[in-house]
Amino acid sequence: MIERPRRLRANRDIREMVRETHPNAKGLILPLFLKEGTNEKEPIGSLEGHFHFTPDRVKEAIDESLECGVNKVILFGIPQEKDEVGSGAYAPDGVVQQGIRAIREAYEDSVYIITDVCMCEYTSHGHCGILNGQYVDNDKTLKYISKTALSHAQAGADMVAPSDMMDGRVGAIREALDENGFENTAIMSYAVKYASAFYGPFRDAAGSAPSFGDRKSYQMDYHNVREAVKEARLDEAEGADIIMVKPALSYLDVIAKVHENTVLPTAAYSVSGEYAMIKAAAEAGLVDEYGIVCESALSIFRAGADILISYYAKEICEAIRKGD
Ligand code: PBG
Ligand code: ZN
Repeated sequence: MIERPRRLRANRDIREMVRETHPNAKGLILPLFLKEGTNEKEPIGSLEGHFHFTPDRVKEAIDESLECGVNKVILFGIPQEKDEVGSGAYAPDGVVQQGIRAIREAYEDSVYIITDVCMCEYTSHGHCGILNGQYVDNDKTLKYISKTALSHAQAGADMVAPSDMMDGRVGAIREALDENGFENTAIMSYAVKYASAFYGPFRDAAGSAPSFGDRKSYQMDYHNVREAVKEARLDEAEGADIIMVKPALSYLDVIAKVHENTVLPTAAYSVSGEYAMIKAAAEAGLVDEYGIVCESALSIFRAGADILISYYAKEICEAIRKGD
């Protein structure tokens, strides 16, 4: 007698009944880009379908997102002016701070607001921290990163997400938040963030490419996976609430390993280059966009992600609802 696995594939009902992975629509997060100014919504050339919004118009993005079922956003800011120490990042009326207030005012607690915490969009040199010569000074940067995180919390962020990759920043942020009465503001750490070519379209969108050198002295080497567990455990010990792995699609093994080796929820960031590749291939008529989006998002959940940050978050949410 032959074994017949095909019995469980005979029709949609039985296939759905035996599914092993149930993607989490409530775990979807949409990235949004805020730029300084008023009354502008400008298409982002490198991320088709995404826009730079001034804080007064970010509601348009949120409304669309809510309509698709996504009520969690991660905010990035593009300031008008940059300087050596990234002053715009922690300015009380900085672009992200304005955006947070606008969203909170309009939607109260029905939108969950996460902020990316880093210096690279705000520094004239484009590095994620404060420079000491050509080197990013770890401990000096911690003060600026914590100040930035605190100012986001003061503006009303629910969660801060440091992406700078300095050592000790989760602990430093946790301390700054706690000392100022923000013990309930959560930290999602970009704990496992690789130095990656997949960030190209984002750096165009945010104008955050380093003006010299690269980020390899602080972001991780893509040859490593045991180091991912080390980074995740360190951030867990420092007080992170959620551990993120980034990028996602070329790092499914890393997501699986981190998920198995830490007890915190695992988030994965499907980055700009992943989005851009699918868009470009679909536009060239080479692949079916919807199919590729469903399959790749599912692979990230199957690898062990509980949470998914994606430029396709709205589309993925609708696909999950349809059972695709
Ligand atoms: C800032 C930051 C980056 C991304 C998220 N936060 C860029 C970088 O580290 O160069 C990448 C997001 C994406 O590519 O979608 N540090
Ligand atoms: Zn950065």
